[in-house]
Amino acid sequence: MPLHLSRRLDAVAPSATLAMNTRALKLREQGHKVYAFAVGEPDYPTPAFITEAAYEAAKRGATKYTPVSGTPAMRKAVCEATARYRGWAPTPEMVTVSVGAKAALFHLAMALYEPGDEVVIPAPYWVSYPEQVRMMGATPVIAETREEDGWQLRPETLEAVLTPQTKAVLMCTPSNPTGGAYTEERLKELAEVLGRHDCWVIVDEIYGDLTYDGFQHRSMAVVAPDLRDRLVVVDGVSKSFAMTGWRIGWTVAPPRLARALDTIQGQSTSNAAAICQAAAVAALLGSRDELEAMRQAFARRRRRMVEGLNRLPGVRCRMPEGAFYAFADFRQNIGKRAGDQAIENDDQLAMYLLDHAHAVTVGGGAFGAPGYLRLSYAVSDDDIDQGLAAIGEALKRLT
Ligand SMILES: Cc1ncc(COP(=O)(O)O)c(C=O)c1O
Repeated sequence: MPLHLSRRLDAVAPSATLAMNTRALKLREQGHKVYAFAVGEPDYPTPAFITEAAYEAAKRGATKYTPVSGTPAMRKAVCEATARYRGWAPTPEMVTVSVGAKAALFHLAMALYEPGDEVVIPAPYWVSYPEQVRMMGATPVIAETREEDGWQLRPETLEAVLTPQTKAVLMCTPSNPTGGAYTEERLKELAEVLGRHDCWVIVDEIYGDLTYDGFQHRSMAVVAPDLRDRLVVVDGVSKSFAMTGWRIGWTVAPPRLARALDTIQGQSTSNAAAICQAAAVAALLGSRDELEAMRQAFARRRRRMVEGLNRLPGVRCRMPEGAFYAFADFRQNIGKRAGDQAIENDDQLAMYLLDHAHAVTVGGGAFGAPGYLRLSYAVSDDDIDQGLAAIGEALKRLT
């Protein structure tokens, strides 16, 4: 008899993209060109001045443990950057620096959720949100949003799902996977509803620097200062500064919760890597020229990707406000056949497109939006053009 694994695993789905990635890797090993539309990271290198700051820090001896919640310089840099670019001024005691925003969210889940708790998550959602809730034995409550609302949660939908068991509402703007972002007006409407209910409000702003066509990202902390005593902002350098491998994210939370996060982090990862924190300080306080160049490239590619998707048979895609994902409606292609193979859902369609167009996409089911596919446009113009052409050919073969 094999030894038992924890029952916790029964409630958790493995990462949806792993099987696809393994298959994509195999295709690549066989010498095929594979279009990597599933990636969740910029295709740019980390700006050189940031890497240089890490190198200098290492030479200066930043090679030891730091305080659990982060170095004083890093916590201060988060506050300064929040004031400069997000329009409100938290204090360092509110900041907990973690091994990426994912660990920040996980520690938050440990600190807040327990069996019997409900956590409201608007769908489509980032895959880890409901899984982390389930890992704590709590219940994710999915609140539907509509594409015609720009994927923004309606206040009446929020009102309808809040109960006395609601421990937190967990939002993301701009969103992974939809790229939809909340307007100030909608945030105000939601804040009004939240003001009447006793629950934590968590907003993941990791894509906050990546918005396009003049759309201004707005922080709930600015729009609804009344909520600040129960508001948690999740953020990080991974996406904006092309620093996914450095693993630096953080939470800004009321001091009582920040102290709880320090306790939990102190018994799990301890501090984020000292050298990486030094790099993140440079990123947060340094020039944003390279970020701006990257943002402008994403803005161009977004148009190319979305316009290209809308030319494909049976595909419809809304122009997103932010992040670097196109979230396209492929429902007209589902229920079709490829020879004797039936395409019954988005995962099967994604697998078909991998095998026949060598394009890696992510099925919307994993994000709570069956029939959609997420395509990252953090890839080259050529990959967008050629990858979409290959997808178009593969779709034409469906009957
Ligand atoms: C919405 C969202 N939040 C958090 C994260 C995690 O970021 P990090 O790489 O800093 O852990 C991601 C990464 O994909 C994300 O898309």
